Amino acid sequence: MSDLRSFGENIWIVEGPMVRDMRAWFTTRMTVVKLSNESIWIESPVPVSPDTLLSITDLGPARYIVAATPRHVWRLDNAQTQFPDAQLWVCRRTRLTLQHGELPITGTLTDTPPPEWADDFEQLEFKGNRLLSEVLFYHKKSHTVIINDLIQMNKKVKGKPLTNFIFRIAGVLYPNGGVSRDLRMSFTDRDLARESLETLLSWDFDKLIIAHGDCIETDAKSFVEEKFRWLKH
Ligand SMILES: [Fe+2]
Repeated sequence: MSDLRSFGENIWIVEGPMVRDMRAWFTTRMTVVKLSNESIWIESPVPVSPDTLLSITDLGPARYIVAATPRHVWRLDNAQTQFPDAQLWVCRRTRLTLQHGELPITGTLTDTPPPEWADDFEQLEFKGNRLLSEVLFYHKKSHTVIINDLIQMNKKVKGKPLTNFIFRIAGVLYPNGGVSRDLRMSFTDRDLARESLETLLSWDFDKLIIAHGDCIETDAKSFVEEKFRWLKH
């Protein structure tokens, strides 16, 4: 059975296995988009079953695989085995970048989408933080924004008290999640961060894909605005 689930026009998500990172257990989720040029763009890849792989390749040839946040870069290693013909794109390298082995990287993501997917996306490197250089995407056709680690709404994990404790003290445990406390403190250039927030809120979106927690299908802009209220003061 395929795990590919539609999230809007030409956009799908796939839930992956849980992974351990920084002593906590996290859910994983990848986004799959069919571009106007008929090829497939994948963000934050997860290992998929043969059925799911087949349903993705049925959509079109997978040409671009993207890791938009430092803690997801290691996943490209497995993705290049599942999609050997795809280009690999990453966010700017920081001290938090988690990478396994050498990767044949095609390019680094910036504020300007490369011509390959510029018809379909706006993108933005959320600035003002030296540790987390996450790139956000706005998929125009489905009015969806993709945010990976910046906003987290982690659900309690059964049998993992340390994970749940970490989520709670970091302020990223559902239903009270958002931008984690440590991340808020590591924004050293808040003016620059406010500029990024302004660009993000200028996008015409109502749906939101996040990597950790439930995605939002209506009125996502007010949700994002609320989760960044701390930055406005
Ligand atoms: Fe993550």
